Amino acid sequence: MIKIHINVDTPYDIYLGAGILNTLNWTSIFQSYAKRFVVISDTTVSTLYREKLLNLWSEYSPLWLNFEAGEASKTRETKALLEDQLQEAGVNRDACMIAVGGGVVCDLAGFLAATYNRGVPVIYIPTTLLAMVDASVGGKTGVNTSLSKNSIGVFSQPKAIYMDIDFLNTLPDNELQNGLAEILKHSLIRDVKQFERLLKFRKAHSEESWLLSDKMWLLETIAESIRIKKEVVVCDEKETGGLRQILNFGHTIGHAIEQLSGYTVAHGEAVAIGIYLESYLSYCRGYLSWENFSKIEKALKFLKFQLNTPYLSDLNAISNALSVDKKSTAKEWRMVFLKSIGTVCDNYVRAFDKADLEKLLTWYRESL
Ligand SMILES: NC(=O)c1ccc[n+]([C@@H]2O[C@H](COP(=O)([O-])OP(=O)(O)OC[C@H]3O[C@@H](n4cnc5c(N)ncnc54)[C@H](O)[C@@H]3O)[C@@H](O)[C@H]2O)c1
Ligand SMILES: [Zn+2]
Repeated sequence: MIKIHINVDTPYDIYLGAGILNTLNWTSIFQSYAKRFVVISDTTVSTLYREKLLNLWSEYSPLWLNFEAGEASKTRETKALLEDQLQEAGVNRDACMIAVGGGVVCDLAGFLAATYNRGVPVIYIPTTLLAMVDASVGGKTGVNTSLSKNSIGVFSQPKAIYMDIDFLNTLPDNELQNGLAEILKHSLIRDVKQFERLLKFRKAHSEESWLLSDKMWLLETIAESIRIKKEVVVCDEKETGGLRQILNFGHTIGHAIEQLSGYTVAHGEAVAIGIYLESYLSYCRGYLSWENFSKIEKALKFLKFQLNTPYLSDLNAISNALSVDKKSTAKEWRMVFLKSIGTVCDNYVRAFDKADLEKLLTWYRESL
């Protein structure tokens, strides 16, 4: 089992392995957190894992609450429904929440736990690749509104994260691909070796579920991605110094796509397109070489990311979406630019304007 210590203000550990859910000592883990437990999950994960987990934790008979699977559920309304259910069940401050699911469950349950009775402990059990490498790590919790992604929420760290890659055996290929988008993003902003390692492994494995073909490689890849995110998060836990903004590479355009699609385009899918466009703009602005941009473009296509979307055709709609991006100010839009594969430009974010956007969209329409 790999253990990664996250040394933020309230430090915690991440435990990562294959099949660890069955080997962890849940009695001692549970005893250290609370007397009463509430699982927050979604409908898909519950169908697959509720029975197994309730058996595993039978000694503690946790209450199990679900919401409808999918990004469309990451709302204030779902949070309020869960809060009502918790109150009706008489759950108070001696409870600990257990988030079992993907990034949507972690973001929502984390936010719920941070505000329920002014805060109860939460542990995360991420079940998607994306949640393992990114969403569960770093303490950002929150929900979307119809106007903007992740705009309502708080910073709040879990007590611990338990990642068992055996969950990924039931994850559909497109969801694995969503996680791959964040792994790729981490490599592009901070770790050229991870970028090369990814492509080398892919070249050697042509099978459909290549990401799951070698458990050791997968564990190392996930651990490396977590380490990259950790390095950034511990330096700027609450995004006050700016460094944390680099994790948003690919997300300025990515979030706009998600929002314009009414959250029907998956996060990872949108981020991959965001990486493509934001890398090209980095090249246009003279920060990224053509050679590096070409490598990124080739990698995206080689890794089989779908780069076409109908949601980038209306300049005004995109402009409106960019104006509510959290990095935007009253005066300007901002994004993370790449300097090379593995390095971002200084100052973390830089301004861009409508002329940049128009140029970018014209190129995008012709490039595919
Ligand atoms: N807080 C952060 O720092 C952070 C970082 C990155 C992404 N995010 C957020 O994460 C969310 C995306 O997360 P996601 O991609 O995990 O989406 P998700 O939680 O919607 O999960 C994707 C789908 O997979 C299903 N699923 C989950 N585990 C499964 C399993 N083991 N087997 C089969 N199906 C399974 C889910 O029910 C869902 O339908 C977005 O809302 C994004 O904003 C947050
Ligand atoms: Zn993301």
